[in-house]
Amino acid sequence: MLAKNTLMKKVPLIFLISFYIIFNFNYISYAQSSGEVPGATSGLNSDADLWRYIRQGNKGNTQLGNELSAVMIQSEGDNWRSIRNGPLSRYGAYGIIGILILLAWYYSYKGRIKVSKGFSGKTITRFKAIERFSHWLMAGSFIVLAITGLNLLYGKYILLPILGPETFSIITTSGKYAHNFLSFAFMLGLGMSFVCWVSHNIPSKLDVEWLRQGGGLFNESHPPARKFNAGQKIIFWAVMLGGLSISLSGWALMFPFETNMMSKTFGILNMIGFNLSTDLTPLQEQQLQQIWHGIVGLVLIIMIIAHIYIGSLGMQGAFDAMNSGEVDRNWAKEHHGLWVEEEDQKAKNADKKGSVNQPAE
Ligand code: HEM
Repeated sequence: MLAKNTLMKKVPLIFLISFYIIFNFNYISYAQSSGEVPGATSGLNSDADLWRYIRQGNKGNTQLGNELSAVMIQSEGDNWRSIRNGPLSRYGAYGIIGILILLAWYYSYKGRIKVSKGFSGKTITRFKAIERFSHWLMAGSFIVLAITGLNLLYGKYILLPILGPETFSIITTSGKYAHNFLSFAFMLGLGMSFVCWVSHNIPSKLDVEWLRQGGGLFNESHPPARKFNAGQKIIFWAVMLGGLSISLSGWALMFPFETNMMSKTFGILNMIGFNLSTDLTPLQEQQLQQIWHGIVGLVLIIMIIAHIYIGSLGMQGAFDAMNSGEVDRNWAKEHHGLWVEEEDQKAKNADKKGSVNQPAE
């Protein structure tokens, strides 16, 4: 108790240090400044008329003609670049560092969540082989996609200065191939996991109670849950919907200029009160797809870091579910009590049916 109180007192200090680290991240400010001024030149300031001419064309009065001069410098490209290297990279980094600090704090506050009655030695089947295969296909490919994707966004600020241009370029080029090809494995795993688990993830009244009790994460309670609790349902739907969206935008980036999903999506959003331009050039389509792909990717990565923590280090006995598929009955009763009751009932019914069908000797 004493140790916990001392720790609690340190919480504000931990947060102060964390924020200090976050705000002192050099490469983030570098990303921003290098993105805001293309080429980091003073050309825009010193030769305003010339740049305006190159960007907006000369209204058809030159040999270049309007069409060609308009594409010499594409202003939307500058906007896209400054969003990608500015807020997208900056807030993504804040989110990733933030969740790591939060989890470190939670671990120091709560420690590993233990099975309060201890292991019983008896197990119950939690996930069949097909469910585990689907999970690991989706999870394994996602982890590689996440690492190679993060390298595309932050590699030049973190790895390039350490590894040098030759090694960095080999790593990044092979990473890009891995990113492209493994996306298909991810889509397959995503679809299979959806089919396996959707029926267990329909929201119910029980979820409200689970959320009201904070899932027992901040006290010793174990709110009732079936196969998946409300927290897991949130992860499930975020992965399924985010996974679908990131797959579609990734498809548009892999096969460029073949879709106009962004203008179609904006058209739908306009029907519910938004006022977005649906008159997008093919390049703008690609730029928006890239920004959206980055946002969804970063949000998923942040959520999945928390998921990986709770499925491994954070909770005793949880990893078995996805490893062997068998979990200890005491673990199952504490975290998914109603599911254990349902499974026991199913087994009893199957026994009864078996003995009725048993031919008389
Ligand atoms: C090393 C990485 C990972 C570990 C150790 C891990 C562990 C687990 C475990 C133990 C469960 C079952 C929990 C239970 O029995 O109730 C689970 C479920 C699940 N995992 Fe993972 N996982 C990992 C990576 C991922 C990734 C990358 C994704 C998605 C891209 C993912 C998506 C899911 C989903 C949707 C479920 C079902 C809902 C839930 O339990 O939250 N997992 N994972």
